[in-house]
Amino acid sequence: MSLVGLLDLNCAIPRGGWRDALTRVPRRLFIPDTIWLPDPDGLLVAVHRDDEAWEKRAASDVAIATQVDDGAPAARHGRGRTATSSASQPSLVLRMLDALDVGDGDRVLEIGTGSGWNAGLLAARLGEDRITSIEVDPEVADQARRNLEKVGLSPHLIVGDGAEGAPDRAPFDRIIATAAVNRVPPAWTTQTRPGGTILTPWGTPYASTGLLRLQVGDDGTAHGQVLGRAGFMWVREQRGPMGAWGKYVDTSLPVDTAKTSVPISDLLDFGAPARFAVGLLVPQIYQVDCHAEDDSGEYTLWLFDAQGSWASVDYQPGASDYPVEQAGPRRLWDEIQAAYQWWVATDRPGRERFGLTVTVDSQQVWLDSPDRPLTPVLQS
Ligand SMILES: C[S@@+](CC[C@H](N)C(=O)[O-])C[C@H]1O[C@@H](n2cnc3c(N)ncnc32)[C@H](O)[C@@H]1O
Repeated sequence: MSLVGLLDLNCAIPRGGWRDALTRVPRRLFIPDTIWLPDPDGLLVAVHRDDEAWEKRAASDVAIATQVDDGAPAARHGRGRTATSSASQPSLVLRMLDALDVGDGDRVLEIGTGSGWNAGLLAARLGEDRITSIEVDPEVADQARRNLEKVGLSPHLIVGDGAEGAPDRAPFDRIIATAAVNRVPPAWTTQTRPGGTILTPWGTPYASTGLLRLQVGDDGTAHGQVLGRAGFMWVREQRGPMGAWGKYVDTSLPVDTAKTSVPISDLLDFGAPARFAVGLLVPQIYQVDCHAEDDSGEYTLWLFDAQGSWASVDYQPGASDYPVEQAGPRRLWDEIQAAYQWWVATDRPGRERFGLTVTVDSQQVWLDSPDRPLTPVLQS
């Protein structure tokens, strides 16, 4: 079945001209000859166009990694550690375009050109002169330009840092980011016209990201709530530490030991609601889980801030509390535990209850409405 047929079957094609755009801009033409697929070690291996696996991926509703480690595969045997550019999952692209809610004549800025497919869909829908797209990686941007030429489209492409927006092309009716942010760049609010919309994956490196939709008011302040989950790679300057996490955990430091009765399985899943909320309350903490190789079901959560603090919690099935170790200047588990307890005491809010207010010089997370700000009271 064709990709469009598959999307149709899953009712993933929104109204509003996107079906015609999909026909005009076949995604397959935007998938490079070499893509990167996960291997059993969790690393990424190159797969070429003549491989069956390439074909299968290109025809599926999945994200496809198109660059690893900023173009220089960092693991042994030419494998990659981290995807640094991708062709996003088609149904997610369409969900975002639907949420962007464009109208004829709108001018749109996209951050993260990547393969160029999303820019192509926008250009087919609104007209190429109304679309601007920024990509930070020159090689990725060059490939996107060539991909777009294949379908006869040439939206305005910029190689640069999307956090600066495109002042020469502003104001925009819509800004859509296809790379995630923790802090919404002020330029996005100043370059969106009053009444316009900013749509971006937003969250924290501790947890996954949600799709945030902000409306820009007359005074330039933007408010909005999370619409649901949307997993994306980070914009380059906001991503967490790259490479092996073990180098951020110095187990020779003196440790404090304790026990916790927090049900840590609530924090295991990267997309868990508890983890999303906790991530909003604890600055710059990263978490990795290491599972026992036997079938005991035991695992350890390793937490680190990449500044010298770390903590570990050992999960054992059936136990009512778990041993904790903490080292370094911060007490990372104490912070996580306090945030988790806040989440429980606040009725376990899901990600859709959180929102954000952005001004030129500040950003405030809130629960349910801007008059319920979250206060970062949790650092010990
Ligand atoms: C998920 S991909 C984008 C997918 C793309 N929109 C598509 O249709 O295939 C994210 C892209 O954002 C780019 N990126 C990361 N940080 C950026 C930044 N600060 N400014 C512009 N692009 C950035 C990455 O290089 C990557 O190509």
